[in-house]
Amino acid sequence: MMRSKIPWLLLAYACCWSTGFCGRVVVWPTDASHWINVKVLLQELVLRGHEVTVLVPSSNLLIDYQDTSSPFTFEVLQVPFSQKTLDALMEDFLNFWLNEVSNAFPWEVMWRMKKDLEVFTNMSKQTCDTLVTNSQLIAKLQQAKFDVLIADPLSIGGELVAEILGIPFVYSFRFSDGNVVERLCGGLPSPPSYVPASTSGLTHHMSFMERLQNFLIYLYTDLFFLKVWRDELDEYYSNVLGRPTTLCETIGKAEIWLIRTYWDFEFPRPFLPNFEFVGGLHCQPAKPLPKEMEEFVQSSGEHGIVVFSLGSMVYNLSDEKSNVIAKALSQLPQKVLWRYKGKKPETLGSNTRIYDWIPQNDLLGHPSAKAFITHGGTNGLYEAIYHGIPMVGIPMFADQHDNIAHVVAKGAAVHVDFNTLKTQDLVDALNTVIYNSTYKENALKLSKIQHDQPVKPLDRAVFWIEFVMRHKGAKHLRPASHHLTWYQYHSLDVLAFLFTCVAITVFILVKCCLCCCRRCGRIAKRKKE
Ligand SMILES: *[C@@H]1O[C@H](CO)[C@@H](O)[C@H](O)[C@H]1NC(C)=O
Ligand SMILES: *[C@@H]1O[C@H](CO)[C@@H](O)[C@H](O)[C@H]1NC(C)=O
Ligand SMILES: *[C@@H]1O[C@H](CO)[C@@H](O)[C@H](O)[C@H]1NC(C)=O
Repeated sequence: MMRSKIPWLLLAYACCWSTGFCGRVVVWPTDASHWINVKVLLQELVLRGHEVTVLVPSSNLLIDYQDTSSPFTFEVLQVPFSQKTLDALMEDFLNFWLNEVSNAFPWEVMWRMKKDLEVFTNMSKQTCDTLVTNSQLIAKLQQAKFDVLIADPLSIGGELVAEILGIPFVYSFRFSDGNVVERLCGGLPSPPSYVPASTSGLTHHMSFMERLQNFLIYLYTDLFFLKVWRDELDEYYSNVLGRPTTLCETIGKAEIWLIRTYWDFEFPRPFLPNFEFVGGLHCQPAKPLPKEMEEFVQSSGEHGIVVFSLGSMVYNLSDEKSNVIAKALSQLPQKVLWRYKGKKPETLGSNTRIYDWIPQNDLLGHPSAKAFITHGGTNGLYEAIYHGIPMVGIPMFADQHDNIAHVVAKGAAVHVDFNTLKTQDLVDALNTVIYNSTYKENALKLSKIQHDQPVKPLDRAVFWIEFVMRHKGAKHLRPASHHLTWYQYHSLDVLAFLFTCVAITVFILVKCCLCCCRRCGRIAKRKKE
């Protein structure tokens, strides 16, 4: 085990000596694509000489804590739910969003989202419990004297662990439903008139009806989450910390929020000095492809290739869907590389090859790449933006609809509906992004913005984490809005005061006038007499 870690350690110590500062980082990870993204950041931290310890649940999807070549130390939390339970939940989740959602009524979809949230919160809480009830482990972590904790507010618990250990924490984050966490807990200003709620699929140019819709989404998510948090978590947090507090208050203590988007993708919006937009920090120039894959790519000639992946979670599709898709792909002159683990579709064309895994970034960065078919996860989208490749988006769940709405609004993608997908829709969408040059031009524009930054996103992310370690926080960036109530924040008390002043003045003036008039009336009357 030690031998495979030696190259990492050697590099790390070399860096450490040169900068004179090595820190200890502890991580409360979120699974799946979030882990894929934060792993790149953690590897960079190790390269710069910091020690990284990951608190990992014994049952999880993508965090391989048995990998002995990993540069991280893992502290395994023995959670009460089994790997089987987790896999079954995931299977059920995917089955609903891939196969059943098209026949469901809107209220069934909402009920399902509520249930998913409950299940997810329950699991996060159980994971959290595993740690907070283990005083031996807490003592061990306290002795380790960590400098910073890295968490993701999607999996609650990280902020709680940081409080228990008495260390500052940094979030690495994409978004929350209706931006509720960053708005309510982080204090991020988000005027509903031009900052669309995440998951709404709206853009920053909204008609009256869309602004109304956006306003109502904000209102609904505020009320919904405040209730869920109050019912499920506020008491839990208070009990663990031994003082009255709320989840939101604890989340609001984050020193820095590293947001996984950038202004090529994001619509211009107000933000705070402790929010840093580091989208695409995982992107890299393409490396050479494996030999067999390179030969296949070269065989496409001038037509080029199409890269197709539905992300790290969706391995297979129903027979019907996979055949519709395979048939569409077979009609293209391009060669297609499809990441897919399901049953081989009967309609699969000779131009399409299926792979268990593809080097997505290297394929998108290949000169032959013409288009990317994607479910719309931020990791994949950023690889396409980085390399300037136009996209066809087939969003299915979570933030995917919203992500695709962004790249469609930027003119670099076409959206197709997964639930009603027909062969011709996909063929048309692909022909549009490949042969209408507008899409390629817009994708290249985004790519140029992504590359033309004073400091690379990965370096900025690392800088802020190191800053927090060096200065034990970043309190100078913390806005005073955290100490205000909602009516103080919106100056409603000031408005009420001013309104009262004006009302009293008007009242007095009117009274005076009336009084004068009456007196004048009386004098005039007397004169007449
Ligand atoms: C999670 O759900 C199970 C069963 O549904 C329940 O028994 C348990 O108390 C819940 N755990 C937490 C921490 O809420
Ligand atoms: C994927 O495959 C598994 C087992 O082969 C099957 O049970 C599941 O329903 C499939 N998922 C979808 C979305 O069709
Ligand atoms: C290409 O796409 C743009 C944007 O959708 C559209 O305005 C334009 O008419 C298209 N051009 C052609 C030749 O179809």
